[in-house]
Amino acid sequence: MVVYIRRRGAGGSRPATRLPTNEVRACSVLSQLVLSLLQYVWSRAHGNRGIRARIYPFPSIHRSLLRHALPCAPNSDRQYCSAVILGARFLKFGWGAAGTGIMATPRPENVGILALEIYFPTSFISQEELEVHDGVGKGKYTIGLGQDRLGFCTDCEDVISMSLTVVKSLFEKYGVSPSSIGRLEVGSETVIDKSKSIKTNLMELFDDSGNGDVEGVDSTNACYGGTAALFNCINWVESTGWDGRYGLVVAADVAVYAEGPARPTGGAGAVAMLIGPNAPIVMERSYTASQMAHAYDFYKPVLASEYPVVDGKLTTYCFMKALDLCYRRFAEKFQKKEGRTFSLQDVDHVVCHSPYNKLVQKSFARLVYNDFLQSPSLVDEEAAAKLQAYSHLSHDESLVDRDLEKNAQVVAKKKYDEKVGATTLLPKSIGNMYCASLYAGLVTLIHNKGESLLGNRLLLFSYGSGLASSIFSFKVRKGEAPFSISAIAERLNIASKLDSRVQVTAENFVKAMHLGETRYGAKDFVPSSSIKELRAGTYYLTQVDDKYRRYYARKPAVESIESSPVANGVAVA
Ligand code: ACO
Repeated sequence: MVVYIRRRGAGGSRPATRLPTNEVRACSVLSQLVLSLLQYVWSRAHGNRGIRARIYPFPSIHRSLLRHALPCAPNSDRQYCSAVILGARFLKFGWGAAGTGIMATPRPENVGILALEIYFPTSFISQEELEVHDGVGKGKYTIGLGQDRLGFCTDCEDVISMSLTVVKSLFEKYGVSPSSIGRLEVGSETVIDKSKSIKTNLMELFDDSGNGDVEGVDSTNACYGGTAALFNCINWVESTGWDGRYGLVVAADVAVYAEGPARPTGGAGAVAMLIGPNAPIVMERSYTASQMAHAYDFYKPVLASEYPVVDGKLTTYCFMKALDLCYRRFAEKFQKKEGRTFSLQDVDHVVCHSPYNKLVQKSFARLVYNDFLQSPSLVDEEAAAKLQAYSHLSHDESLVDRDLEKNAQVVAKKKYDEKVGATTLLPKSIGNMYCASLYAGLVTLIHNKGESLLGNRLLLFSYGSGLASSIFSFKVRKGEAPFSISAIAERLNIASKLDSRVQVTAENFVKAMHLGETRYGAKDFVPSSSIKELRAGTYYLTQVDDKYRRYYARKPAVESIESSPVANGVAVA
């Protein structure tokens, strides 16, 4: 028997957390009776003031029991100690309390993204070719909008198949068992069904595990749903409702527009994020700042059509205004907490929702202008001199001043390359993925920078028309294998995913859009597109029957990926 004595911190006892009963079983062995008695005697002797006895019979056995009971089992001595001693605490309240599984453990630390996976369709068109096809001026889509390519789904893929693919792939790459997921949240604005959530389709992947105890449904507000889903999962892990299992977020959309100026800003993709403690990408939850308002800038009131109604100029105005307000509120919260001014100097990389790359360039320039307004000393001398001419503008005037927009982009260019450049590859190569777009930027950054991100602060701006928006930040740390930043970078396989794409002519893209119009909301059909070009392991739609029920199959996964033991506890099959 080993006895540890620890002086309690100023924070006192920690909040209660709900853990699965199997952990309780692991703790509720006979030895806990002894522990409880010893702790009781100790607390009486010391009046429970400041000192707590920590007593561990057979620590290695206990620790291993815990690890097999819980995917996120305590993996540090401190966490383990708390979990075990609390088994003893139950006994103070009787065996009945132990049966409920309610235990007090330390608040989970470093909660954030443990793993990321992305899926995007293989079919794409070149924006250069689309410019010719659409008869617009050369450079309008590539330079004017800043886009290189546009990815799209044929009629054998949809938002559900992409979500199935990305989740299954994440499970396989990280050896994560569906039974270790306690919450699954989907963010999407692609409406396939007005009642049934995409999340419920994903539950098919949980059938074999027998795990139906998975909280969460879908979140919808234009491109913001993925962020709402992410916040929900982070909040859950940080709450007293957390049961020790992982959260899983899926951000997925098909972005298609009617013929016209918005069509080149389409795209499609899905990102899955595994959420838990001890993460390599840790959310700094307390600085998060939002701007929510009512606007008709982009919406989907025509339920018979997949296409949105868009007021293009108003969306960009609303986007920029929301960015300003979120950034200023974030800076205020940071200052309040840290006691010092916040500016882009505190940020290593900025990841921005990317409807098209030009808007990302304008957004970053806007942040530089905001820093300048806070204090000219926060930007370099040249920038301060150029921006001085716009310092007298009211907020509303500044949002529509074209000179300011252009000049701010010019003075921000160098910093844009440094802080944003590494986030743009996938959004420029795929197009807007609505909810997945921001996270495709994060994926790109990890793919490009890998371990060199360690210690960096990442600032993210999420915008969903209508409107809902937030700015939030992550700090990057090493993490624990396989949930390390380098492992994520390696497993994303971005280069091979991009290489496996197939270029389609602009004429065939337009045909695919027409076919999509006839398929949307339709029943009783079998998709006509070939699955030949889909990557191994991709889910695809096989049929929609006469009751609108959708059926999916998976293209065999030829690559067998070695699953590694997961961190935070047990190796799961
Ligand atoms: N060479 C280079 N640049 C050119 C050329 C050319 N030949 N022709 C035009 N351009 C530039 C324009 O100057 C303009 O650049 P600027 O904004 O830096 O001044 C840019 O190309 C766009 O051209 P416009 O004529 O201003 O706009 P357009 O009518 O093509 O519409 C828009 C663009 C509004 C973005 C449209 O594509 C759209 O509605 N998209 C969907 C809505 C959207 O994405 N909103 C953003 C946030 S909400 C969301 O995520 C859905």
